[in-house]
Amino acid sequence: MTDLTTLLLSRIRDVADHPEPGVMFKDITPLLADPAAFTALTDAFAEMAGRTGATKIVGLEARGFILGAPVAVRAGLGFIPVRKAGKLPGATLSQSYDLEYGSAEIEVHAEDLSADDRVLVVDDVLATGGTAEASIQLIHRAGAEVAGVAVLMELSFLDGRPRLEAALDGAPLEALLTV
Ligand code: PRP
Ligand code: MG
Repeated sequence: MTDLTTLLLSRIRDVADHPEPGVMFKDITPLLADPAAFTALTDAFAEMAGRTGATKIVGLEARGFILGAPVAVRAGLGFIPVRKAGKLPGATLSQSYDLEYGSAEIEVHAEDLSADDRVLVVDDVLATGGTAEASIQLIHRAGAEVAGVAVLMELSFLDGRPRLEAALDGAPLEALLTV
């Protein structure tokens, strides 16, 4: 284990039976409250943005906003929010995706991405991969390229990686922690 993974792991709290019985919730609030850990995380993602030639950072509402915005500032790139449906005021592209029960929809302002862009998607957790996959579809529909997906944590038992790699078409999926 590297110093970075040891530090990050030590700042994630397991909360049993949240938000429902049988679920072990990964609480990142201790990490956000620790400036050394939050800075180390931000630096690692910003390094990936540089290495992959990203021109924009997309953060996925809500926890992807918290992690993605400082990455954009650190990397000197624009931050583009992908929001849950109905929140963005301008002309949007929308993408729905299946949840375990029902479906969800996310949106991006159409004018925020263009064919000149390479986008790094930032989020906290990769679980089933549904949210990140829908964001990739949005980015492609906007005409932009995907530079990669960066997550703090991959829940490997939920098999999000193969699903996402199919959508990524060779672009990297990097998780700082795999549980
Ligand atoms: C959580 C998490 C990821 C997503 C991962 O978001 O932050 O965005 O689920 O799940 P998936 O890989 O199965 O799509 P959620 O919308 O539950 O909460 P948030 O608004 O607090 O980010
Ligand atoms: Mg989320």
